[in-house]
Amino acid sequence: MEEVTLIATAAFGLESVVKREVQALGFADARVRDGRVEFTAQVSDIPRANLWLRSADRVLLKMGEFEARTFDQLFEGVRALPWEDWITSDGRFTVLGKGVKSQLGSFRAIQSITKKAVVERLKGAYAVDWFQETGPEFTIQAALRKDVALLTLDTSGPGLHKRGYRVHTGTAPLKETLAAALVQLSFWRPERLLIDPMCGSGTILIEAAMMGRNIAPGLRRSFAAEGWPAIPASAWHLAREEARDVIKRDEPLRIFGYDIDEEVIAGAQANAKRARVGQDIVFEQKDIRDLWIDQQYGILISNFPYGVKMLDFKELNEIYISFNKTFKKKKGWSIYVLTADKMFPRYFKRGRPDRVRKLFNANIEVRYYQYYGERPPR
Ligand SMILES: C[S@@+](CC[C@H](N)C(=O)[O-])C[C@H]1O[C@@H](n2cnc3c(N)ncnc32)[C@H](O)[C@@H]1O
Repeated sequence: MEEVTLIATAAFGLESVVKREVQALGFADARVRDGRVEFTAQVSDIPRANLWLRSADRVLLKMGEFEARTFDQLFEGVRALPWEDWITSDGRFTVLGKGVKSQLGSFRAIQSITKKAVVERLKGAYAVDWFQETGPEFTIQAALRKDVALLTLDTSGPGLHKRGYRVHTGTAPLKETLAAALVQLSFWRPERLLIDPMCGSGTILIEAAMMGRNIAPGLRRSFAAEGWPAIPASAWHLAREEARDVIKRDEPLRIFGYDIDEEVIAGAQANAKRARVGQDIVFEQKDIRDLWIDQQYGILISNFPYGVKMLDFKELNEIYISFNKTFKKKKGWSIYVLTADKMFPRYFKRGRPDRVRKLFNANIEVRYYQYYGERPPR
């Protein structure tokens, strides 16, 4: 089958996690470049990459890359690419353009030149003057960076964070792809105890449970490239069958989620059920100030509330004081906290974090504070 280059796009700070995921799917040549992970694959791998990547934003099919300092260069470069291999004569296609640190900076101009060039190419290939655009959808991305144009087709459609399980969102829910990355950046393994004491819609815990049971995150949704004739329908069918076959139905998990808000907890429960992990997570309405931990070892991953919109300073202070009291001396607990509050490490007196990772949550700069706990005896 035909070889292609795929690109898994990654949010800032998550490139290494996405790279590891791509490698784990068997693509050994995965390489990180400017916020994306490129890898060589077969056409029939497109379904598998979309179904299984947990932390990537989307999977793009690379059509070409070339230098473009002028609109003529862009036009000629785009027209030279074999769009007819993918876009059908009745295909509807949209172009998204962007220019960063490039002579061609206007995204509108990049879009219209690219669209014209693709139309020219397809006119020649299909020997027609006019396109009906009633068939499958194609989204072309034309991204210029430092005068190099990268042309891709988006195989995912809606971003991969849209798993289809989250209907109830609570306040400030985490993107599912980011939540999956937080779990993968932690010491959590399916046999270990995991809690999120301020779990909101339950995203972190649901993503962990899906990992624990080996459920492909994309199993419950569809993808743009499913409508493309160039990818045999059997490849999608097979990838879904395989994903269903490898689900670990009896994996015992110990995952607990709490939140002060009863309605939010009910929503998290409903989300987990829809993600088919309703039985794997115990959700309970609880104020973190009443949390009591009797286990010696465990993993805590949480996205703390922060900002005047969510709660006032006095309340946040109380949360920090009780969190400190509960976890300061729990040396067997690995603690992972995502927050925009740079003061957090001053309040949590367990010592300096072992690692601090800068990330973005809905365009807000946040830090992922990581405190490694002692490993439980074997
Ligand atoms: C940033 S949100 C968590 C979002 C979550 N990660 C998600 O993906 O939906 C913070 C949560 O902390 C909860 N919260 C605030 N104060 C709390 C307290 N004292 N005890 C427990 N939960 C609290 C809020 O109800 C809110 O759902």
